Amino acid sequence: MHALFPRSARFLAPIAAVGLALAACGETPDKPAGKAEAPAAPGDAERAALLAALPAPYNAGDLDNGRRAFARCRSCHTITPGGPNMTGPNLYGVFGRKAGALDKYGYSHALRTADFVWDAEKLDHWLQNPRTFLPGNKMSFAGLPDATDRRDVIAFLKVETGYKSKEK
Ligand code: HEC
Repeated sequence: MHALFPRSARFLAPIAAVGLALAACGETPDKPAGKAEAPAAPGDAERAALLAALPAPYNAGDLDNGRRAFARCRSCHTITPGGPNMTGPNLYGVFGRKAGALDKYGYSHALRTADFVWDAEKLDHWLQNPRTFLPGNKMSFAGLPDATDRRDVIAFLKVETGYKSKEK
């Protein structure tokens, strides 16, 4: 019997050590280490501040109406950071991004080879009538004929997609 004791003690010691390590882990509030967190969606106060900082006329935009207008885009586009491409490409960070530039999305030849950067003015024309703005593109969307809806959806997108005021 006695001869067994030291062996089982040797066997138990590492288990006790693991137990202690786990307990220590449980007590320290975990901070996610390494990998950067995706930027969180802005809160209401932050949204209001972002809106107020936009260049005219977008600073007068109605974000609720913009969100409503964006309901017409949602079936094809996500706007969250790293969100999936659907029928259309993810729109996070679209302002200041070259047209047709996401590697993982299969753009039309027209958009892939278009040589411009998205800003509010370009987006306004695109949304007014995608077909005439860039012939040969494959966004089958009739357009937003109402200028106020376009202003508001652009303001909404600027607030939601990480636009920084250095871009137009
Ligand atoms: C029926 C699906 C559909 C709807 C609805 C739609 N889109 Fe698109 N969108 C697309 C497709 C498809 C493309 C890619 C076009 C191409 O490659 O020619 C696109 C491209 C875009 C681009 C260019 C992105 C880039 O990376 O260059 C923007 C900006 C955009 N859409 C905004 C909108 C907005 C804003 C709305 C709503 C007002 C909207 N779209 C509604 C399908 C849609």
